[in-house]
Amino acid sequence: MSSLIITEDSIPDLAGKTAVVTGGSSGIGLGTVQVLLDHNARVFILDVSLPPSDILSKKATYIQTDIASWPSLVQAFTTITTVHKCAIDIAIGNAGVFETESYATQCLAPLSIEPSAWSTLEHMDAPTYGCVEVNLKGTLNFVMLAARVMRGQESGGSIVLTSSTTAYLPEQTVPVYSATKAALVNLVRALRPTFPLHNISISGVAPSATLSAMVPQEITSALSSSGLPVSTGRHVGLALVYSATAMQRQRVENYGKDEPVTEQYEGRWNGRIIHTIGDTFWEVEEKLAETKGQWWGEANLAFAKKQQIVTDARIG
Ligand SMILES: NC(=O)c1ccc[n+]([C@@H]2O[C@H](COP(=O)([O-])OP(=O)(O)OC[C@H]3O[C@@H](n4cnc5c(N)ncnc54)[C@H](O)[C@@H]3O)[C@@H](O)[C@H]2O)c1
Repeated sequence: MSSLIITEDSIPDLAGKTAVVTGGSSGIGLGTVQVLLDHNARVFILDVSLPPSDILSKKATYIQTDIASWPSLVQAFTTITTVHKCAIDIAIGNAGVFETESYATQCLAPLSIEPSAWSTLEHMDAPTYGCVEVNLKGTLNFVMLAARVMRGQESGGSIVLTSSTTAYLPEQTVPVYSATKAALVNLVRALRPTFPLHNISISGVAPSATLSAMVPQEITSALSSSGLPVSTGRHVGLALVYSATAMQRQRVENYGKDEPVTEQYEGRWNGRIIHTIGDTFWEVEEKLAETKGQWWGEANLAFAKKQQIVTDARIG
C-alpha cells in the first residue's frame, strides 16, 4: 500500500462542475457533499432521507431517490439532466446499508431433513438481501446511468464508489455486506481498462471505521477509547472527491493490448482504491497489481495475460 497525502488543497476549484452523490444526506456522503460545495461544485444529493436543511442552497439540491428502485433512479437522472439541464461531471455512488440479520446464523440454523420441514421452507418467502439490493444492484444501476450520461459528454466524467475495508478484510459478522463491498472493488477492476477509452474514470474508496449513522456510536466510542483509529465523514469525503479529480502518472496495470505507458503519461485517476483509516489515506490497487505474480503464480499470470490479449475486444 502506498501512503497518500491528500489535503483540501489537493482538490481543484470545481466551479462549473456538477456532482451527484448517492447517500449524500448523512455520514460519509454528507462529508463528500460538504467537500464538493466548499470547492464550488453544483451538487445533487440522491438519498431516501432528507439531508440537514442547512446544506441545501442554490448549489445543493436534494432529490428523494431510492437507488434500489430503477424508476426512482431514472427519475433522478431525468430531473438532473432535463429539468436542471446539468451535465454530470462527477458521480459518487456512496449509498449503502448494513446487513440486518446475520446470514451466517441463518445458514447454520438446524434443519430437519423431514419432508414437512422442506415443505415449510418451500412455502416461506424467499430470503431477501437488502444490502445486495442497495449496495450492489443499486450501485450497478447508478454506474450504468452515470456512464451513459458521461459517454455523451465531450469532457466525459468521473465515477467513484464507496466500498469498504471489509472488501479486503471481510468481517465475519457481516458476510453479505462484505461480499457486496468486494463486488464493488472487482467492478472497478473489471471496468478500469474500458471506461477511460470513453473519457470516463472509475475508482473507489474503502473506508475503515468512520463516524456515521451506520455505525452505532457505542462502537465508534469503544474504538476511540481503545486508541483505535476512527475517521470522520469529511476525511473519507476528501478521498472520494480526490479520486474524482486527481491525475495519475501511470496506470494501475496494463490490460490486454494496452501499450505500456510512456514517461509523459498523465491520465485521470482510474481503477484505484483509496483505503481511509483514521486521518490517513492509502492507495491499495497498484501494489496488489504489482505483486500479482507472487500471489497468483508467475506462470498462471503469464497465461492470463496472454488470454487477455487474445480476447481483448475493447472498442477504442
Ligand atoms: N461508516 C463506516 O464505518 C463505513 C465503513 C466502510 C464503508 N462504509 C460505507 O460508506 C457508505 C456511506 O455510509 P455511512 O457510513 O455514511 O452511513 P450513513 O447511514 O450515515 O449514510 C448512508 C446514507 O445512504 C442513504 N441510503 C441508504 N439506502 C439508500 C437507498 N436505497 N437509496 C438512496 N440512499 C440510501 C441513507 O439514507 C444515508 O443517508 C456506505 O456505502 C457504507 O457501506 C461506511
